[in-house]
Amino acid sequence: PILLIALCGFAYAVGSILFAIPVCRLGGLTDPRALGSRNPGATNVYRSGGPLPAGLTLLLDALKGAVPVWLAGHYGFSVFAQAMVALCAVTGHMVPVWYRFQGGKGVATALGSGLVLAPLTTTLLALIWLVIIWRWRISALASVIAIGSGPVISALFEPETLPLFGLLAIVIVIRHRNNLIRLAQGRESRF
Ligand code: G3P
Repeated sequence: PILLIALCGFAYAVGSILFAIPVCRLGGLTDPRALGSRNPGATNVYRSGGPLPAGLTLLLDALKGAVPVWLAGHYGFSVFAQAMVALCAVTGHMVPVWYRFQGGKGVATALGSGLVLAPLTTTLLALIWLVIIWRWRISALASVIAIGSGPVISALFEPETLPLFGLLAIVIVIRHRNNLIRLAQGRESRF
């Protein structure tokens, strides 16, 4: 279990790197915590910097979710243990040790972990996300509906990962509470 504890610690530590912040700093963009939704995530980087820095943020935030889970699988840990590692990475992003525990919403990190641990479910959720973006152009709406579908889709296709998708749905939807309030008021910003 020492190795699993180390992997959980590693996942939390790298999960705590909010890549939106260094990407914006290096790109000469305003700190994402100071504009738009004030969320340090790819969507908000898109608002100030467009597709390139946003894509880089998405990629790096997804990788920090993917790599620790991949390592856990590589060392032969069970799906349950890999799911714990995934939750540590997402927890890092949401309550990061490097940023006074003020983090983001965990969507990109969950995407990265999910692609490794439950590729079919996660690809389907990503397609749901894309369809909603295509139709309504609201990232938070797409994220909440996609992750909210996770428990059902994982139960159908990759049932061992249902506990992971259940927990991810709860924490990610809670993290979007301000977006949901704005959506209900018709004030949520579009792409
Ligand atoms: O995943 C984050 C996205 O769902 C919402 O981001 O910046 O619109 O709050 P934002």
